[in-house]
Amino acid sequence: MLKQITNKKEMDKITVIGAGNVGATVANVIAHKDLTKDLILLDVKEGVAEGKALDIWQTSSINHFNTRVTGVTNNYLATKGSGIIVITSGIPTKHGMSRDDLIKTNASIVKDVTEKAIKYSPDAIIIVVSNPLDVMTYAAYKASNKPSHKVFGMAGILDTGRYRAFLSSALDVSPTDIHALLLGGHGNTMVPLPRYTSVNGIPVTQLLGKEELDKIVERTKMGGGELVNLMGTSAWYAPGAAAAQMVEAIVDDQNRIFPVCACLNGEYDEKGVYLGVPVRLGRQGIKKIIEIELDKNEKQLIRTSANEVRDVMKVLDDMKIFKD
Ligand code: NAI
Ligand code: 2OP
Repeated sequence: MLKQITNKKEMDKITVIGAGNVGATVANVIAHKDLTKDLILLDVKEGVAEGKALDIWQTSSINHFNTRVTGVTNNYLATKGSGIIVITSGIPTKHGMSRDDLIKTNASIVKDVTEKAIKYSPDAIIIVVSNPLDVMTYAAYKASNKPSHKVFGMAGILDTGRYRAFLSSALDVSPTDIHALLLGGHGNTMVPLPRYTSVNGIPVTQLLGKEELDKIVERTKMGGGELVNLMGTSAWYAPGAAAAQMVEAIVDDQNRIFPVCACLNGEYDEKGVYLGVPVRLGRQGIKKIIEIELDKNEKQLIRTSANEVRDVMKVLDDMKIFKD
């Protein structure tokens, strides 16, 4: 009854692959939001997904959700019929390691899990989280053979989340009142856009000086590294929440406008590259890539970021793990 009143929709099954820090957190948030009847958490390590899924499910009576969370070890049959597959499997960034160092290990993992998962859920939307994000999303796209509006990656909501958090602290206002946009790859060349940042409609450029804004932009770009330096491994709470927000937008067909790692086909003068851009997200996946007006400098920053992603794509292409 409550669901009818709130018009909340639900999916029969969602799968999260990789039950590590990020995967378990995504699963936990999805379960708490009651977005699906069945949530499958899958990992290669015997017992890990089973244990974490059981632990999450045992909070259902405490936190009032109905999602049945089940963990499995490499059992793709259990994932059959999933509407969404979130891929978090792979190694995380460690101290002194750039995101791009991860490519060789994670490309093989992402290819393998995508092929296995899609066999049992051919209609699923795929959300990639594994790093290096933009190129792993491209790897999942190649491995899945699906249209690109159904294969995309999570980074922009996380990066914007960091940007919004830093701005809210500098301005001493609620982070929820900060609306911001960030384009480009999930790396040091990402492009936060102060010109498209506002505090409930008030341009942030009217509230903060250029020097302070520049510092926040720089801290945002290094946001992942800041956490690796503190913890020795990469973050999971904000990445998990960000991926779950994308899942929610799809399940509830919300038409939310989010920065998402999407395949560009001429938009922003780029072609055949996955890059963070604003999209309208709903039940069918990416319903539209939104092109915004950029000045000369912003265009150049996007080009630099796209070229950085292309350099990593070349490493993937040289691995020759895909047929064409
Ligand atoms: P983690 O090491 O805690 O978990 C990774 C899990 O993947 C492990 O449990 C491992 O057993 C599993 N795994 C490895 N190979 C597998 C396979 N073939 N099939 C199924 N499971 C497999 O790492 P964490 O912190 O959860 O990070 C996961 C990935 O997400 C990393 O690549 C990390 O860099 C990336 N990441 C991306 C972010 C983004 O903004 N896109 C933010 C944070 C992390
Ligand atoms: C992050 O941004 C390293 O991609 C990871 O936290």
